[in-house]
Amino acid sequence: MRVEPQQGGGWREAVAGLRGAFEFEWGGRQYLNVEDYRQAARRKLPAGPWAYVDGAAEDMLSAAANRDAYRRWDLRPRVLAGHGERDLGVRVAGESLATPILLAPTGLTGLAHWQGEAGAARAAESAGTRLVLSSAASYSIEEVAAATERSHFFQLYPWRDRELMASLIERAGTAGYVAMMVTVDVPVPSNRELEQRQGMGIPPVLTPRRLLDGARRPRWWYAFLKHQRVSLRNLGGEYGVRFGVRGAQRQLGLWRPDLGWDDLAWLRERWPGPMFVKGVLDPEDARRCLEIGAEGVVVSNHGGRQLDGAPATLDVLPAIAEVAAGRGQVLFDGGIRRGSDAIKALCLGADAVMIGRPAVYGLAARGERGVAEVLGLLTDEIERNLVLMGCPSVAALDRSWVSRRDLEPSL
Ligand SMILES: Cc1cc2nc3c(=O)[nH]c(=O)nc-3n(C[C@H](O)[C@H](O)[C@H](O)COP(=O)(O)O)c2cc1C
Repeated sequence: MRVEPQQGGGWREAVAGLRGAFEFEWGGRQYLNVEDYRQAARRKLPAGPWAYVDGAAEDMLSAAANRDAYRRWDLRPRVLAGHGERDLGVRVAGESLATPILLAPTGLTGLAHWQGEAGAARAAESAGTRLVLSSAASYSIEEVAAATERSHFFQLYPWRDRELMASLIERAGTAGYVAMMVTVDVPVPSNRELEQRQGMGIPPVLTPRRLLDGARRPRWWYAFLKHQRVSLRNLGGEYGVRFGVRGAQRQLGLWRPDLGWDDLAWLRERWPGPMFVKGVLDPEDARRCLEIGAEGVVVSNHGGRQLDGAPATLDVLPAIAEVAAGRGQVLFDGGIRRGSDAIKALCLGADAVMIGRPAVYGLAARGERGVAEVLGLLTDEIERNLVLMGCPSVAALDRSWVSRRDLEPSL
C-alpha cells in the first residue's frame, strides 16, 4: 500500500508514529538475567527477608566458592557441528523433564512472595520441570498438590520426632509426590549472622530502623499481613506455626545433631518411591547412600548456608559422579546463575541441576511469573550455548566438553 505524505501532521499523528516506532514499558525494568531478578528482589524485600533469601553462613565463603568454581572451567565448542534440533530433556526419578533444571527446596518462600511454593510449583510445571517442596515450606504438602497438576518431589528434614517424619512421609505419598529428598546437612541450624543482624529469628526483633525499612515497602507488608504465608504449614496443624509463637521455638528443638546412617536406613524403609540424599559432598558418603538404597544423591552445600568452609559443589562433583556411575543418579546445586554454569555441572557428571536462590529472586520480583521467567531464561541460555558449542543435547554433555583452565591450559 502506498502511504501518502501527510499534510500538516498534528500531535495525534506524531504520537501514533512514536507508538509504532517504540515499545513503552512502565517502570522501564529489563529482566535479562538472574542478576536482574536478584536486584529487583533486593528492592522489593525488607532487609530481614532479603538477608534470609540472599545470605549464607558466617563469612559466606562457601557461597562465594560455589560461584568461583565455574570460572575454573571453560566450555570447549566444536564448530561446524550443525544440529538442527536440540534436546534438553532429562529423566529424574523416572520423570521426563523438558529442562535439566529443577527448583531446589527452599523453606518459607512465602517471605519472598505470598504465592510461595504453590506459585513456584506452577511455574515449574509450565517450564516442564518440578519443584522439590521443602518440609519447611509456607504452603503445605496438600496445598501444593491441589494447586498443581503434576507430581512434584518432597524434601524431608530428618527431625527428632520419628512420628512426625512418618506422618509427613505418609502425607507426601497420599498427596502423590513421586520422590523424596532427605536433607542431611542440617543437623543443627547454622550461624547466619546477616540474618541475625537484621532481626530475623523467632520471634523477629523489631527496631525503629527496621520498622522504617519495612515502611518503605508497604506492598510487601500488605501481602504479608493479608496472606499470612510466613509459617511452616506442614507442621502444627492447619495454620502452621507462626513466627513469634512459642510453638516455633519448640520446632527448632527438633534438630538432630546425632543424625546417623541408621536414620537414613529407617527412612529408606518408610518411603516406597525413589529417595535422594541431599547435602552429600564426599564420594564415600555417596557410595554409602546408594548402598542403603537411595536412588541418588544431591551434591549440595545448601548454597553455603550451613557449614561455611565446605567445598564448592562443582569441585567435588566429578569424584562423586564417578562413584555413582551406573549405580544411581547425581543431582547438583550451588551457585548456578547462568545456563553455562548448569552446562558445566552436567558435563562434570550431574544428571540434572537445581536452583535455589534464583527461583526465590524471581518469586520476590514478580511472583509465579518471575519464577517461570527465571526458568525460561536459564533454559534459553542452556539451549543457545548448546548451539554455540555444537552439542545436540543435554544427554550428550560429558567431560570432553569442558577443560580445567589451570590444569589443561594447552587444550
Ligand atoms: C531461602 C532458602 C531456603 C532454603 N531452604 C531449604 C530447605 O528448606 N531445605 C533444603 O533442603 N534446602 C534449603 N535450601 C537450600 C537449597 O535447597 C539449595 O541447596 C541452595 O539454595 C542451592 O544454592 P543456590 O541458592 O546458590 O542455587 C534453601 C535455600 C535458600 C536460598
